[in-house]
Amino acid sequence: MEHNWTMVSCAGLPATAPRQGTVSVYCVHADQPFLDWQECMVLLDEDEQSRAARLKFDEPRRRYVLARCLLRCVAGAVLDHDPAALRFFYMPSGKPELEWPETTPPFYFNLTHSFDLVLLAVARHAPVGVDVEKRRVPGDIHRIASKHFLPDEAVQLASMPQPLQPEAFLRAWTRKEACLKAIGGHLFRDLKRFHVSLHPSEPATLLGTTLEGRNAGEWHMAHLEPADGYLGALAVMAPFEGLATYRVLAG
Ligand SMILES: CC(C)(COP(=O)(O)OP(=O)(O)OC[C@H]1O[C@@H](n2cnc3c(N)ncnc32)[C@H](O)[C@@H]1OP(=O)(O)O)[C@@H](O)C(=O)NCCC(=O)NCCS
Repeated sequence: MEHNWTMVSCAGLPATAPRQGTVSVYCVHADQPFLDWQECMVLLDEDEQSRAARLKFDEPRRRYVLARCLLRCVAGAVLDHDPAALRFFYMPSGKPELEWPETTPPFYFNLTHSFDLVLLAVARHAPVGVDVEKRRVPGDIHRIASKHFLPDEAVQLASMPQPLQPEAFLRAWTRKEACLKAIGGHLFRDLKRFHVSLHPSEPATLLGTTLEGRNAGEWHMAHLEPADGYLGALAVMAPFEGLATYRVLAG
């Protein structure tokens, strides 16, 4: 199902706070930043600024800064807190989580970026994972599928009409990656733990998981089409009653 991406400015962010049981997803284009570079840099903490400085190339540096800035602006608006004063910590896998302020209910979030696009998913009731990819054929999809997909998924992909295969591959990849990002996993270790739907006519669904103590029915997913030429997936470790999607613009 395609979602309507509502335009919102920084000033409008407080009204986008997800209600308990719902999810909000925010999208920003790196070539249409919602704040200028100076305003972004002022919001980042020392750790984020030095990580940005270590990125050698302009494009990833710009995307990283914009993503952190989006995260701080949204978290600040949702929690009614100074965005520059928020603190994050990192799971051993590198997944950032909010350290301070401590909030009840928790502030669950996940970021993803690809080329010009940054996406942020936020919920208050369950961990979320999000992934976005540019629509392009990422090399030999069958070789990648045989290595990182479950055997059933690789067989289903190969049995589809050839023109549908690249899209099906990307749908499966983003769904699996969104799931592993919800748990704070590792790309190449955890992709096979999630069995997902991949046919373009099927809704985004987690069909099975080998995660201990978890069953696939507890998870809920959404297919995302945030901009021309991009597709993505959202994974939530609980049912959700609503999904609101926003494009954050300057002003
Ligand atoms: C997480 C991972 C799947 C993301 O892959 P990717 O397609 O390159 O990245 P995406 O654009 O979708 O997401 C990146 C963002 O997800 C978040 N993130 C980082 N690690 C994460 C993880 N393990 N789980 C969930 N989210 C994670 C971060 O916010 C990151 O953006 P930032 O660095 O700008 O803050 C991949 O980096 C991975 O496997 N990480 C674990 C690697 C590892 O072994 N880390 C140990 C040392 S830190």
